Amino acid sequence: MLNNVVRHYAAYQVPRYTSYPTAADFTLVVTSNEHAAWLRGLDAREVISVYLHVPYCREICLYCGCNTKMAVRDDVIDAYRRALETEIGLVASLVGERPGIARLHWGGGTPSILGADGLRSVVAALGRHFPFENGFEHAIELDPRHVTGTLATALAELGVTRASLGVQDVDPLVQAAIGRVQPVAVVERAVEYLRSAGVTNLNFDLIYGLPLQTTDSVRKTCAVVAAMAPDRIACFGYAHLPRLKANQRRIDEAKLPSQDQRIDQAETMAAELTRAGYMKLGIDHFAKPADPLARASAMGKLHRNFQGYTDDPSRVLLGLGASSISTFADGLVQNTSDVPRYIRAIEAGSLASARGCRVDEDDRQRAHIIERLMCDFAVDLDAIAPAADFHQELSMLAPMQWDGLLDIDGTKLRVTDAGRAVVRVIAAAFDRYRRPQAAQFSKAI
Ligand SMILES: C[S@@+](CC[C@H](N)C(=O)[O-])C[C@H]1O[C@@H](n2cnc3c(N)ncnc32)[C@H](O)[C@@H]1O
Ligand code: SF4
Repeated sequence: MLNNVVRHYAAYQVPRYTSYPTAADFTLVVTSNEHAAWLRGLDAREVISVYLHVPYCREICLYCGCNTKMAVRDDVIDAYRRALETEIGLVASLVGERPGIARLHWGGGTPSILGADGLRSVVAALGRHFPFENGFEHAIELDPRHVTGTLATALAELGVTRASLGVQDVDPLVQAAIGRVQPVAVVERAVEYLRSAGVTNLNFDLIYGLPLQTTDSVRKTCAVVAAMAPDRIACFGYAHLPRLKANQRRIDEAKLPSQDQRIDQAETMAAELTRAGYMKLGIDHFAKPADPLARASAMGKLHRNFQGYTDDPSRVLLGLGASSISTFADGLVQNTSDVPRYIRAIEAGSLASARGCRVDEDDRQRAHIIERLMCDFAVDLDAIAPAADFHQELSMLAPMQWDGLLDIDGTKLRVTDAGRAVVRVIAAAFDRYRRPQAAQFSKAI
C-alpha cells in the first residue's frame, strides 16, 4: 500500500511526458516554413515512423479526452480521407530522398470509420510515396463495438500486425456512467474476429478513476480482461478536464472516485495484472513477459512517444492528419486540430502546421533524461549530459530523496520502488518549461 508521502506527491499536477517539451509548451513560433525545412532536412538513411490521425467517431464517449468529433455524414469522412492522402503527397514532395517507414500507427478517434476501402486507399497513397521497411509494424486503434469479421479480414490483408482495443471497464454501471455501453461479449467477439483473421498482437486500454469504479470493480475488470489474454494492457488514469472537453461536463463529478481511491484502484489493477502473469512496464503499461515491449524494457530499450510506451527506436515521427504531432531532430510541430482548417490548408497546397517547439541540445538532453526516468526509473545524468549543471534540479529533488522516493548517488538517480508511482513528479524537475502546479495537466496518479 502506498504511504502518505507518495499520496502527497501524487496530487501534483504534472505532464504525462509522452514527449519533451510537451504539447502544452508548443507555441506559434514554429511555422509551416520551418516544418517544411525540417522535412527537407530528413536523412534518407533514417527509418521513420508514421502516425495517421482520424478525428471521427460514430458517437462520443462522455469520458473521452481524444481529439475527435461525432461523424454524422459519410461525405465528411471521405473529404477527410482525401485530405489525408493529399497531405501524404505534399509531405513527400518536400522530403528529398525518402526514408523508409518502419512503423505505421493509426489513431483517433476511430480510424476504422474510414472503412476497409478508405484505409486501403490511404495505405496505398503512403506506399506510392515512401518505401515500407521489411517486416514493418502496422498498428491500429479499434473500438470493439465496430469490429466486424469483414473489417478484421480487411485489416489482415492490409498487413495490420497489431490492434489496440478500447475496453476501459467491463462493469455495466460504470459503462452507463461513461456513455460507453460495451458488453464483454462484444469485446470477446472482436478479439475472436481479429485472432481468426490473423491479427494476433493485441493491446487493451483500461481506465481507472472513472465514475462508480471501486477497487472491487477494477479487480473484476482485470480478471475478465486477463482471461482474454491480450499481449499488452495499458491502464490509464482518467484525465478529467471538463474545462477543455465539453463531453466530460456530462460526467457526474459526485460519482468520481477520490484521489485516494484512484491510487488504490491503480494499485489494485497492477496487483491483479501482475498476478495474472503480466509484467509492469513504466508507469501504466503491462505486457506478457515474452512480448517485445517487455523484452525491450528488460534491455533498457523501452521508449516513450505519443502513444505511450513503445519499443520504437525511431527518432523521426511524421504525424499526418488534423492535430497530429511530428517529431524531428530540431523540433516538434503539430497540425491544426480544427478539421475544416486542416482540409483548407492541405487543399490549398500548404502544410497544416499550427504550433510547435524548436529544440536545442539542452532540450534533447532533458528529453533523454526524462525518457529514461519514465522508462527505466533510473538515469545517469553524466552519461547523457556530461557538461551540464543540474544543481538546481538536484536541490529540487532533495526533499523527494529525504522522503525515500529517490536515491541520488553523485550524478546517478534511481527511483525507489515507493517512488515509481510518482516518477512523473521526479521527471518534472528536469522540465524547464514547467509552470509549477499548472492546472492543465492531470494528476500524477
Ligand atoms: C482513440 S481511443 C481508442 C480507440 C477507440 N476510439 C476506442 O475508444 O475504443 C484511445 C484511448 O484513450 C483512452 N482515453 C480516452 N479518453 C481518456 C481520458 N479522458 N482519460 C484517460 N484515458 C482516456 C482510452 O483508454 C481509449 O481507449
Ligand atoms: S474513447 Fe474512442 S470511441 Fe470514444 S469518443 Fe474517444 S476516440 Fe471515440
